[in-house]
Amino acid sequence: MHQFQPYPIELLELNPFTKISSEWMLIAAGGKEKTNAMTASWGGLGVLWGKNVAFIFVRENRYTKEFIDKEEYFSCNFFEKKYLNDLKYFGVVSGRLEDKFKTSGLNVDYKENIPYVDESNFIFLCKKMAAVPITEAHFLLPEIKEKWYSGKDDGNLHTLYVGEITDVLAR
Ligand SMILES: Cc1cc2nc3c(=O)[nH]c(=O)nc-3n(C[C@H](O)[C@H](O)[C@H](O)COP(=O)(O)O)c2cc1C
Repeated sequence: MHQFQPYPIELLELNPFTKISSEWMLIAAGGKEKTNAMTASWGGLGVLWGKNVAFIFVRENRYTKEFIDKEEYFSCNFFEKKYLNDLKYFGVVSGRLEDKFKTSGLNVDYKENIPYVDESNFIFLCKKMAAVPITEAHFLLPEIKEKWYSGKDDGNLHTLYVGEITDVLAR
């Protein structure tokens, strides 16, 4: 088990564009009885309703969504490059079919009841503030539906979750 320190958010120097889109993250949600996680490369960091927030976008069919919806918190976990294969695995296999924490080299740990990934080197714990299902009526450009919602995930639109970043953990 690794030791994490609280990290002051005002000292953050990370680039959210490269961090999220190229390095990816694992979104973990659940509790001590059961936790699931999935890879994500869409999302953002910012300020809303007077809070520092993370935005994530989760399609309807993701098993992780059930855990996010049920619990008060989710976590965004970032990794060194050597964990790329684990991130790929968490991004193609569903926790409905395999317990991904049992079959991978990654382990889940908890701050109080909030799950995070122990091998991560940087974590946001996020308290849900809003869950906004994005519907086709929200698209202002036709190519969004064509490009992102016409393949095998057709019909599984995204829900936007806004989470207040309550803790930044680093090691
Ligand atoms: C690089 C990468 C990025 C991904 N980004 C997202 C994302 O932002 N939102 C999403 O809903 N799914 C995303 N996925 C797909 C999920 O990670 C994938 O469907 C996963 O198997 C879901 O697992 P679950 O059913 O256990 O939740 C991504 C997959 C990969 C490989």
